[in-house]
Amino acid sequence: MNDMTLTREEREAKLEGMGCKRKRVEDIRFTQGKGNYVDDVKLPGMLHGDFVRSPHAHARVKSINTEKALQVPGVLAVITAETLKTVNLAWMPTLAGDVQMVLADGKVLFQNQEVAFVVATDRYAADDGIAAVEVEYEALPVLVDPFHALDADAPVLREDLAGKTTGAHGPRRHHNHIFEWTVGDKDLTDAAFRKADVTIKEMISYHRTHPSPLETCQCVCSFDKIKGELTIWGTFQAPHVIRTVVALIAKLPEQKIHVIAPDIGGGFGNKVGAYPGYICAAVASIVTGKPVKWVEDRIENLTATSFARDYHMTTEIAATKEGKVTGLRVHVLADHGAFDACADPSKWPAGFMNIVTGSYDFPVAHLAVDGIYTNKAPGGVAYRCSFRVTEAAYCIERGMDILAQKLGMDPAELRLKNFIKPEQFPYNSALGWEYDSGDYATAMKKAMETVRYAELRKEQAAKREAFKRGETREIMGIGVSFFTEIVGAGPSKNCDILGIAMFDSCEIRLHPTGAGIARMGTKSQGQGHETTWAQIIATEIGIPADDIMVEEGNTDTAPYGLGTYGSRSTPVAGAAIAMAARKIKAKAQMIAAYKLEVHEDDLEWDIDGFRVKGLPEKFLGMKDICWIAYNSPPPGLEPGLEAVSYYDPPNMTYPFGAYICVMDIDVDTGVYKVRRFYALDDCGTRINPMIIEGQVHGGLTEAFAIAMGQEIAYDETGNVTTGSFMDFFIPTAVETPKWETDYTVTPSPHHPIGAKGVGESPNVGGVPCFSNAVNDAFSFLGSTHIQMPHDFWRNWKAAKELGAMA
Ligand code: CDP
Repeated sequence: MNDMTLTREEREAKLEGMGCKRKRVEDIRFTQGKGNYVDDVKLPGMLHGDFVRSPHAHARVKSINTEKALQVPGVLAVITAETLKTVNLAWMPTLAGDVQMVLADGKVLFQNQEVAFVVATDRYAADDGIAAVEVEYEALPVLVDPFHALDADAPVLREDLAGKTTGAHGPRRHHNHIFEWTVGDKDLTDAAFRKADVTIKEMISYHRTHPSPLETCQCVCSFDKIKGELTIWGTFQAPHVIRTVVALIAKLPEQKIHVIAPDIGGGFGNKVGAYPGYICAAVASIVTGKPVKWVEDRIENLTATSFARDYHMTTEIAATKEGKVTGLRVHVLADHGAFDACADPSKWPAGFMNIVTGSYDFPVAHLAVDGIYTNKAPGGVAYRCSFRVTEAAYCIERGMDILAQKLGMDPAELRLKNFIKPEQFPYNSALGWEYDSGDYATAMKKAMETVRYAELRKEQAAKREAFKRGETREIMGIGVSFFTEIVGAGPSKNCDILGIAMFDSCEIRLHPTGAGIARMGTKSQGQGHETTWAQIIATEIGIPADDIMVEEGNTDTAPYGLGTYGSRSTPVAGAAIAMAARKIKAKAQMIAAYKLEVHEDDLEWDIDGFRVKGLPEKFLGMKDICWIAYNSPPPGLEPGLEAVSYYDPPNMTYPFGAYICVMDIDVDTGVYKVRRFYALDDCGTRINPMIIEGQVHGGLTEAFAIAMGQEIAYDETGNVTTGSFMDFFIPTAVETPKWETDYTVTPSPHHPIGAKGVGESPNVGGVPCFSNAVNDAFSFLGSTHIQMPHDFWRNWKAAKELGAMA
């Protein structure tokens, strides 16, 4: 029974619905070490598989001798491309319409590429087996520098594509060319540049990096020969898509494939795609009839699974002398590595890079992206961002700062002058998007007032004078960034993965006692879905969040969904949750009307039940309605209280934010100190402010890592020089700055609860903010743009090159 002795506020608080700082329910198991990850899956007779990998970045594989390996105690099988060819699985399709070798077929194209899969009774035996596999390589010329990929004499990487002048995304004009994607009006943009008072042009590189989640990619495959069923436990951000892909490429009936994504220790885009490890473990289980586990180590994860970024963006802005932007022209050289395995919706070869006009009212723009092959690992995932949005935000936010410098204007003032105005929403951008809502100037001004921006600029001017007089060796940078994200892929008219429309889903089933279970097509990797999804339901149908169990990740029980990445969960599944809840509420209203003996229209919703309008004492709570639904439903009405919603959003959502960073750099050592970092985010309606804050803290920490040091770097032989955490920067509590968070609320007009995504925003806005702070610090010494990552050494080098050394 609903307790009507409580006040309205107490009833509302009891629900712990939207807006409540509800503690994360999943943390009860995580903080006690009781999570259940893939590596916790231990099945009777389970075998272990591991890879022989290529030491070369480009080489012909002349022979593979497995004889000695098969004699190693515990080794049961060694799978090569020849084995896979017998089941037509030597190559697999990528999400970007390319194909990728599962195991080296005739040649290797990047260092640590998978060459053979050793299956043994335990991991140690598998390792011994790997050491005993003899592979004869003939080294080939290596292509590392993307700027030489399209040279006439560049080495031919993809021999399998010989003679193919067309790829998945149109014509290819060179043997290392994948696609050219153009958007916008070139003629009008060129004309704007011809007429411009002021123009800037800069090659802005966003270096190659890697999502590097705490838990690496892994799976356990178990084939039941009697039933002909394959069960896969895996670190999957999109379990349903994995099931469909397995059904299609392994030609198994989809109902006989069970994909389970248990707890996941971070994804950040790394766990969206399909990797050779999954295919080899499945084949090994089918061949041996035993469960097979594959678990990547850290070096394998960093060097062979999906990288992120590697975009080289020649950026041009045209403007009037007063600082009004009149045109944007961007050319991107996109280094995709050896295979085009970008995790983008099918029709978007460069993701949503055409959000590159950012938060500014550009009348015209043109974007061209050339995708190219090099001898590097494949990937191109949205590392804590929505399909290349981070690259776009970095490009425009650096560009705006460079323009401000040329105009002699303050970068915040330049932004304020060019923002899309509130009355322009819904806003159609020059590159084809319809922004749903925004109030940029309010957010920017709030940020500036909070950090006392004008005073900071005065302090900086004084410090610069002191530096010139030789009184200090420290320079001060103020980084400003204002980003607009595009999240919530996506309307099915725009977005699909391998032909499957990008909707999402929710099924809610309420039990007789007024508790329930909700299942979604999404999969949390740490974002707190078990907590926040229940909060949406609590507010929508008045059942306390604590009484709703949230379940994700099991394709046998969850409705079909496209998974969690690119902050799509709240915009898409969050909407499906509200819509399913509303279907339940509609049925509950019919039950309440019958029981209270009034017409449905005479009822009004009141926190946790229905009340007869004008008769406050006539009330029926949701708990009672649940019981009635199973005990004595109105005649003619089906018993039970459950609903499913498949939600195809009408548009994406466009969160935004204003970030400001204050940084001091010692020119003699290059050592920097982040004095202050302020992040204002607007993600529309806020479901759980505490979870949002956690998301922002995490995203900013990753942004800090990327901007200030994290990089997947290659030497000229294609050797990865940052393949472990010794060299790949992962900030600990020691390095991580203190974050100040803030917000405004501009709801999305088309989302049922007005929410936009937030998880990716801090990374999207954070990287340009850090980089702008470094560049701002050095600008008075005459520099225009210093490439990321801004580690101590590069800062020191920049200071030296700019003549700042004593
Ligand atoms: O798709 P993903 O879960 O990575 O990202 P998201 O949709 O931005 O959500 C991340 C977390 O923040 C989830 O637990 C959301 O429920 C929560 N969130 C929120 O509380 N309010 C919002 N307006 C957006 C997200």
